[in-house]
Amino acid sequence: MLLGASAGWTLPDDFLKRFEHVHAVDADPLAPFLFGWNHAKSGAKISFERVDLFAQLEDLLERYPHHAILFSNVLGQRGFHSDDSAAVEAELADLKLRLKGRHWASYHDRLSLAGPLEPARLSPFTSQGFVLTQDLVKKIGAAGTCSDHLTGSVLPDNAPRQFLPWQLKPGRLHWVEAGIGTDLNP
Ligand SMILES: C[S@@+](CC[C@H](N)C(=O)[O-])C[C@H]1O[C@@H](n2cnc3c(N)ncnc32)[C@H](O)[C@@H]1O
Repeated sequence: MLLGASAGWTLPDDFLKRFEHVHAVDADPLAPFLFGWNHAKSGAKISFERVDLFAQLEDLLERYPHHAILFSNVLGQRGFHSDDSAAVEAELADLKLRLKGRHWASYHDRLSLAGPLEPARLSPFTSQGFVLTQDLVKKIGAAGTCSDHLTGSVLPDNAPRQFLPWQLKPGRLHWVEAGIGTDLNP
């Protein structure tokens, strides 16, 4: 189940084909059309649904009890929909409890930077667990404006993760965090 599927720009056809069925979810009415167009040649069996994934998560999990779940670069945008950062951070951290017992993963914006970038610090890296935002800022050498996407506690603390720099254009960079959230000690 792909949550925040949009047109699936970041998802190669070969990845989609690995699954018997893909149920894609997005609030955007144009997403099914764009996703279908973008992945027409994949041969993957895809269904689409337009709902709010946060409001309908339990319903989706109940209707697709055996689907693995991928939050596809969607959780880092949650903060744009509310002025209450603490509530958003708590809601995102709470997702892992709502997903208990399910196979799930997420890649999401963790920090975005605007300003001068140090090319030497633009390499992906891994961590064996939670990385404090202040430590991440130090490691990536953030200068200029740095925005926190409130996703630091999406993954369980003991989940290994990758940090991937995604340069949108000169002087604009997102650091994406990616990891598997499935209970490590079920
Ligand atoms: C950055 S885009 C995702 C990119 C996409 N996964 C890709 O590979 O191209 C985020 C998507 O999440 C969707 N979205 C944001 N909040 C949502 C919500 N509460 N419920 C469902 N979809 C949501 C947006 O409509 C948008 O299409």
